[in-house]
Amino acid sequence: ITGLVTPITDADVADNFAFAFDIDGVLIRGGRPIPEAIEAMKVLNGENEFGVRVPYIFLTNGGGKFESERCHDLSRQLEIEVSPGQFICGHTPMREFADRFGTVLVVGGEGEACRNVAESYGFRDVITPGDILKANAHTAPFRKLTDLEHKNSRNLLAHGAKMSDIVVEAVFVFADSRDWASDLQIILDVAQSKGGRLETRSETFDEGPPIYFSHSDVVWSAAHEHVRLGMGALRKIVETVFADTTGGKKLKTHAFGKPQIATFEFATRLLQQWRAAQHGLAESDPPQTVYFVGDTPESDIRGTNAMNEKSKSTEWYSILVKTGVYQEGTEPRYKPRRLVDTVLDAVNHGIRREM
Ligand code: G3P
Ligand code: MG
Repeated sequence: ITGLVTPITDADVADNFAFAFDIDGVLIRGGRPIPEAIEAMKVLNGENEFGVRVPYIFLTNGGGKFESERCHDLSRQLEIEVSPGQFICGHTPMREFADRFGTVLVVGGEGEACRNVAESYGFRDVITPGDILKANAHTAPFRKLTDLEHKNSRNLLAHGAKMSDIVVEAVFVFADSRDWASDLQIILDVAQSKGGRLETRSETFDEGPPIYFSHSDVVWSAAHEHVRLGMGALRKIVETVFADTTGGKKLKTHAFGKPQIATFEFATRLLQQWRAAQHGLAESDPPQTVYFVGDTPESDIRGTNAMNEKSKSTEWYSILVKTGVYQEGTEPRYKPRRLVDTVLDAVNHGIRREM
């Protein structure tokens, strides 16, 4: 049989270019793979006319799970092996903040998942909205914790502690809120507190702790035919309502994720390490071109184009697909180098441009 098929493992590895993929709206939609995505991965793994294998990483603004868990899901969905060494989600860069703060409020995601992720990053003292609601059910009049949520939430009032003994040093919105009303209330309470001290009110409204969102996408592409509201919408509400309830004071929050340049720099480092570890390429030798395939002009294309302006060694080449947020026939606010139908067309375009 040898000789009839070219074994994928013998294919040459491309050392001068690589791919980076957005996930929602490019590879996955509503938990299901976009059909062309499976084929696109095969092409990258050597099933192309040149027999070349192309290194690639994933860069999503999504989150709410351990990176390893998300890679496990992606491996199944895309029928390939995806390693955490080639994967960045919205909250991955928050890892680097774990040593800076004592008590932090972590918001978003299913159940206890985001607390667990934050603790695995090294955050020392993580509290969640559930802990606050368990300590004082009046915090959000219309939110009732389920029995399981109640059981899993920490007891902030143990050993006679008072709410005002607890000082939140930073707020991290790790993933999409599952209950916007109570999360909004709790984020605003902390933002308007005396230096992060729970259940206090500042007189000046300028002493709350920093608030970090893992990304700023106002909309994203899920199973519904129209885009759905994302964390960026919650961020806008937090800032607007802060002003409305403080006589016009301004609240400046921070965002990670795309299109932040720091996220693309983080991705550059990860890609270099991945190319070295997985493909034996020199870590000091960056690829000439990275093709970034995304569906959201405001985050994917904007960030890629900005990175291209900034990077001296690597061309960042933006490709916009039509399977997600971007709607065919509209004018994208940030212009891609190339507009294609699907991720498979994006991969074929990049490979043909190189070979
Ligand atoms: O919540 C996730 C969404 O806002 C974006 O995910 O993969 O398109 O960056 P992605
Ligand atoms: Mg997307």
